[in-house]
Amino acid sequence: GKVRAPTHIISTISDDRGEEPCYAGVPMSSIVEQGLGVGDVISLLWFKRSLPRYCTKFIEICIMLCADHGPCVSGAHNTIVTARAGKDLVSCLVSGLLTIGPRFGGAIDDAARYFKDAYDRGLTPYEFVESMKKKGIRVPGIGHRIKRGDNRDKRVELLQLFARTNFPSVKYMEYAVQVETYTLSKANNLVLNVDGAIGSLFLDLLAGSGMFTKPEIDEIVGIGYLNGLFVLARSIGLIGHTFDQKRLKQPLYRHPWEDVLYTK
Ligand code: ACO
Ligand code: LMR
Repeated sequence: GKVRAPTHIISTISDDRGEEPCYAGVPMSSIVEQGLGVGDVISLLWFKRSLPRYCTKFIEICIMLCADHGPCVSGAHNTIVTARAGKDLVSCLVSGLLTIGPRFGGAIDDAARYFKDAYDRGLTPYEFVESMKKKGIRVPGIGHRIKRGDNRDKRVELLQLFARTNFPSVKYMEYAVQVETYTLSKANNLVLNVDGAIGSLFLDLLAGSGMFTKPEIDEIVGIGYLNGLFVLARSIGLIGHTFDQKRLKQPLYRHPWEDVLYTK
């Protein structure tokens, strides 16, 4: 039989050895000929399967809606300061990306984990939120610096509308909405934010599409694929902010003394 030397790398998502590269076994030409989009490419390279059109469309909507949120948010601010320090595109991009985490844009995986666990265990929103409070953990996917109960996040509404129209089931999202109803009764800033909307809706996508087994869903949620959506999306905006600053020939940024409280 064949004697194979052990390899140093195992890879299962793409192959460039043939006439044309393949993503999860699908040749590039077939992707182009079928008129597939970036949602399909993400399905192949992240989830290693072709997903139904409504799923790939949902992924694309997430990316479009999270591409940017103005110059004042943590990521864009870092990128702008870095661009004004004369750094290159990759430095400007990663400087912004490095702010993505539990408070900003990177709460999607934790939102999915906590909402799934609470829903699957049959906790009422009251039990869930109060148990988080007891543990001293802020509910991921809830809360926003500028959005309020009377000034909802349009992105959340657009995602919910798409899912209610196209998904077979939105049970996790409806649970997140019930959690939001409870948190809003405590404070007006505790809205379901875009991370929470994507986290809960992705659970619905995974569970309702029939394309994933339970262990696969646990693996996706456990490893934490979903913050990748925000990272990917926001890269588009951060690259835009880099070009903008360079186009505007903005000088080195220095924060004004008046805006710092110097104290002992
Ligand atoms: N769960 C429970 N209570 C909360 C939450 C939450 N998620 N968020 C705020 N609160 C409460 C707390 O009681 C807080 O008081 P504390 O500072 O004593 O804990 C009070 O509201 C006021 O909160 P602030 O700190 O003033 O809220 P801030 O505007 O600074 O925070 C933030 C906004 C970071 C988004 C916060 O709500 C949070 O941590 N949310 C969870 C993480 C998350 O979902 N981040 C993604 C945001 S969307 C995005 O970045 C694209
Ligand atoms: C974002 O998408 O960057 C925001 O939701 C965060 C913010 O504070 O606006």
